[in-house]
Amino acid sequence: MSPIAQTEENRVQVPLAERSYEIRIRRGLLREVGRCLSDLGFSGKVAVVTDRSLAKLYEPIVTKSLKTSGFEPHTIVVRAGERAKTLRWVSVILDELARARFERGSVLLALGGGVIGDLAGFAAAVFVRGIPFIQIPTTLVAQVDSSVGGKTGVNHPVGKNLIGAFHQPCLVLIDPETLNTLPRREWKAGLAEVIKYGMIADAELFAYLERQMGALLKMEEGPVAHIIARSCQIKASVVAEDERESDRRRILNYGHTVGHALEALGKYRSLIHGEAVAIGMVQEADLSCHVGFCSKEVVARQGELVRQAGLPHALPPVTFSKLWGAMQHDKKVAQGRPYCVMPEQIGRVVIAPLERSEFKRWFVNRS
Ligand code: NAD
Ligand code: GLY
Repeated sequence: MSPIAQTEENRVQVPLAERSYEIRIRRGLLREVGRCLSDLGFSGKVAVVTDRSLAKLYEPIVTKSLKTSGFEPHTIVVRAGERAKTLRWVSVILDELARARFERGSVLLALGGGVIGDLAGFAAAVFVRGIPFIQIPTTLVAQVDSSVGGKTGVNHPVGKNLIGAFHQPCLVLIDPETLNTLPRREWKAGLAEVIKYGMIADAELFAYLERQMGALLKMEEGPVAHIIARSCQIKASVVAEDERESDRRRILNYGHTVGHALEALGKYRSLIHGEAVAIGMVQEADLSCHVGFCSKEVVARQGELVRQAGLPHALPPVTFSKLWGAMQHDKKVAQGRPYCVMPEQIGRVVIAPLERSEFKRWFVNRS
């Protein structure tokens, strides 16, 4: 696999008929947001939804670019982190949009990580029954995953992402320069989602990560550009095949059956999303080996890569009934049985319903 070029702009199409859009990836793109919006035919008022940290770091660059291109930006700032993903913060955004007299044709920019993308995207989905929005992801999780595919929403105390809507962005603008200020812990959390793509769909990407993890931990430009573009290609092709997750898209939930349960059990405070996914992948691969879908070698290779990335892998102290109970509140449940994405080989997974008795046997005997 030859590395994806880093100097030019990489463009990935998300082909979804009348909801098709482009993902544009280039260093410095943040300073050209205004021009990118004009190219799409937008004008006038623009809502910029961001969080308190990014309001200092990048909002001024974006609003300057918007003003230069003749737009009227209106910034809405929410608290940072997972605890902003609530209906209360949706309401704050909707109030601001209504007071500032935003209309159906007005556009909203989601400037931030996955939390801002999910939250602001959901506000865009419901305000006047839907306004266009643009994703400007600033974390690795958001650049490789959450900004693409149109899943928007917020958490409910009972379970993660239980309230939401499918609402595709009309453009995704990725500026890898923004990653320079990302806290180390958040950077590593993003690597978990990239490992996920290797496991579910691309053995070559997985092998690339094994070779380049040292360079990625140093955030070297070439490998970083490569993993962002390759991840976006994989996500775009899965979403194009199954936009509303009736079948194939479920593979993107690898590591999330256990991962989401751990996030909810920790009340969204102890583990950040990518860390929970890393633990989820390690545990779900072990489960897959236990039920006979994959070999010990697959489990060991993935475990080693997760460790190399400096990500957590062990289940935090939790009882079987708490974990199983939290898994029941996930969206990935049908007739009371959660489903789980399980590796067969590196680059290939199966989706299988989980029986309580089988899961308990694995839980009690796990290595
Ligand atoms: P996040 O959005 O909470 O961002 C993490 C932290 O980094 C925040 O405190 C933020 O202020 C800060 N930050 C963001 N960009 C920064 C930058 N460039 N420099 C410095 N600080 C920066 O976390 P996340 O990991 O990006 O997103 C996790 C969320 O995404 C979860 O809620 C998860 O469910 C969701 N998600 C959604 C999808 C989807 O398809 N919609 C996919 C994956 C994850
Ligand atoms: N991150 C899961 C999905 O987009 O479907």
